[in-house]
Amino acid sequence: MAASQENGLASNSIDPRLFRSVFGRFASGVTVVTTEVEGNIHGMTANAFISVSLNPPLMLISVDNRANMNRLLPVSRRFGVSILAEGQEELSNHFAGRPVDGMEISFITKEGIPVIEGALAYLVASVQDMHLAGDHTLYIGAVDFLESREEEAPLLFYNGKYHRLSKKETVPGPFNDDDYSMFSLRNFIIARDKK
Ligand SMILES: Cc1cc2nc3c(=O)[nH]c(=O)nc-3n(C[C@H](O)[C@H](O)[C@H](O)COP(=O)(O)O)c2cc1C
Repeated sequence: MAASQENGLASNSIDPRLFRSVFGRFASGVTVVTTEVEGNIHGMTANAFISVSLNPPLMLISVDNRANMNRLLPVSRRFGVSILAEGQEELSNHFAGRPVDGMEISFITKEGIPVIEGALAYLVASVQDMHLAGDHTLYIGAVDFLESREEEAPLLFYNGKYHRLSKKETVPGPFNDDDYSMFSLRNFIIARDKK
């Protein structure tokens, strides 16, 4: 089916709600994209973030043409991506157009770009390419800084809601009383037969 755009609206038969709902089935992390223009720091929550190339290191973000961020990136031509950690839901809401009153946000600077303190990982990039794609603009960034804090858990986004990685699911204890998975059952049988 040919998709065309008129006035920024989908003019084919794809239902925008179905489009959102299907893409909502793709679980992602949550990032805050940051940039600075004339001393003013701006942040925008984004999950349309992917790695593009390892050599050279490139990443991509997709920004709504109506977003303030879309006016600022062509000016600053540099941006940071803070991958949010579990528990940073309020920060995500804050930078998604739902500012939380009285919320104190601590920025730290990496390679001259402010990023969110306490995030799980950071990337900093220079804008290498911009592509208008329908009602969004794709920004390809040449990555020049990376840092991650492996011990932290990520904030997840799925089906329009925040989720947390359950430690119990990712690292199952073999003899957990309330865990009836095949994994623990098998370990239980091995342990019993060893007696
Ligand atoms: C979990 C989540 C992910 C989002 N991902 C994106 C995204 O990838 N691109 C985008 O343009 N907006 C995204 N948004 C919406 C923007 O964060 C929101 O429109 C924000 O208010 C734009 O800020 P600005 O106009 O001040 O730059 C997302 C929102 C949430 C809650």
